[in-house]
Amino acid sequence: MSRVTPEAATPAAEPVARPRAGTPAAELVDWQRRQGRHHLPWQASREPYRVWLSEVMLQQTQVSTVLAYYDRFLERFPDVRALAAAPLDDVLARWSGLGYYSRARNLHRCAQVVVEQHGGAFPTTAAALATLPGIGRSTAAAIAAFCFGERAAILDGNVKRVLTRLLGFGEDLAQPAAERRLWAQAEALLPPWAADMPAYTQGLMDLGATVCLARRPQCLLCPWQARCIARREGAPERYPVKTRKLKRGRRESSLLWLQRGSTLWLSQRPATGVWAGLWSLPDYASEAELQALTGTWPGEGRPLPAIEHVLTHLDWRLAPWCHRLPDDVPAAAVLEVEAALPPGRWVSCDDALALGLPAPVRKLLGG
Ligand code: ADE
Repeated sequence: MSRVTPEAATPAAEPVARPRAGTPAAELVDWQRRQGRHHLPWQASREPYRVWLSEVMLQQTQVSTVLAYYDRFLERFPDVRALAAAPLDDVLARWSGLGYYSRARNLHRCAQVVVEQHGGAFPTTAAALATLPGIGRSTAAAIAAFCFGERAAILDGNVKRVLTRLLGFGEDLAQPAAERRLWAQAEALLPPWAADMPAYTQGLMDLGATVCLARRPQCLLCPWQARCIARREGAPERYPVKTRKLKRGRRESSLLWLQRGSTLWLSQRPATGVWAGLWSLPDYASEAELQALTGTWPGEGRPLPAIEHVLTHLDWRLAPWCHRLPDDVPAAAVLEVEAALPPGRWVSCDDALALGLPAPVRKLLGG
């Protein structure tokens, strides 16, 4: 067997002699090393499990929010085997409050695939990572760049903003062909050296999060200020161009807070749809429906202040209705009430807060 020398281990695609200075990549790498963020908890490790977890948590979620969850999640699930072996309910409980729960379900499935099909080690290329549940092209590239120095381009929402401005890319990103062309441009901008990939990738993220903001970009702080076409045009906020507007919906529901002694009734949501798999107060289409249901029950009900819950596609008004069963209610009457409820169980408020709860329900229960 021939010995692999360090030179031979360098990826074949690595160019031998390309100038480091004077390119957009070199400027960004230098800026990241001097001015970028270096103390985020997931930057302390190049271990794929930790990097993967941070990238999934950071999809659609700000750094300041993720900071409150990342270490706590790792305490409970320190490695991919621990995560794969855990019940989904425990994973959802630690995710509770981060939102977009399909991410937690995919995270759990992905951990199981890594253990069962890859012997517990994450694949080491962006292409292979992108075949796993919940890992899209940009997330796969981020993991491969941070952990393995692969020259793979990221292109999440923030990076689209940064690059369309830099390049003056005015095509409509609602068109798949335009998005493909931007991916190609993102690849053309990559630094030639694998060793620069972590700083370059982090630099794009840092620029998007702290300098090249959607409104009021801080162009004077930007390492690309001299070459940015959008800035030269005088209106960076015009980028990115995306015509398709999100059609927001509106929904109203009534939540039943049914109290029996110091416990309340929680039911687990179906495996698909909003809040899939989380534990919640039973919900009804209207207060009238809820009152018709509870009107014949022993005890009394009263409305609680409504909550406005804002999701990506939906403004959701949740009106809680609190009904308390009397302490001396006969067991037979309790059984009758239970039969009219969605399947669930009685839990104390403290036990409820340890379950995977939707954020507004958690808040309502005082968590
Ligand atoms: N957003 C997505 N990935 C990130 C990372 N690794 N650091 C900071 N913000 C991010």
